[in-house]
Amino acid sequence: MEHIFQQGSKPVSPTFLMLHGTGGNERDLLPLAAHIDPSASVLSVRGNILENGMPRFFKRLAEGVFDMEDLEFRTKELYDFIDHASLKYGFDRSNVIAIGYSNGANIAGNLLFTYADALKGAILHHPMVPNRETELPDLSGTPVFIAAGTNDPICPAEESTDLQQFLQNAGAKVDLHWESHGHQLTMSEVEAAKAWYSKL
Ligand code: MLT
Repeated sequence: MEHIFQQGSKPVSPTFLMLHGTGGNERDLLPLAAHIDPSASVLSVRGNILENGMPRFFKRLAEGVFDMEDLEFRTKELYDFIDHASLKYGFDRSNVIAIGYSNGANIAGNLLFTYADALKGAILHHPMVPNRETELPDLSGTPVFIAAGTNDPICPAEESTDLQQFLQNAGAKVDLHWESHGHQLTMSEVEAAKAWYSKL
């Protein structure tokens, strides 16, 4: 997969897996990673799907309606890519924290829904429930931060509260943060994510 890897300054710090929104690319969220923890390594990936020229991490049939077969395939592709990158760049595979926005948060959510060992934790900006028909792995103790907008036209509020419930039922430790905005990634939710991360 197209990507950027940046070696962090402290070996104990995690590797941030950065996952952009629809129409973005692997450069978009680099400032976010540096803001949350400048000592972390960064693996920032570009989605392999193109929708009218806009990169995404998996296909959709309509706004908010996912192509579930492709989602499953692309989630495994990303999981395998993280394994491959950890060997290539020498980062600790068990210390990867995803930071995703929108479509990127949705594939990060599906990594959690599919694999117990994909991520050590996740910061999900404006995610949806990636799959309502699956049994989640044991996510005991996995910390997850969700940022949601009360007026988000793409992710109605129940998407966030349902996602929190699914993850909690699997044992994850979920913090749900609300912004009185829409689908945009706001600076104040980034500050809330940073404060959450600093307490891990
Ligand atoms: C998705 O397709 O993943 C969601 O609808 C969010 C987005 O617009 O990318």
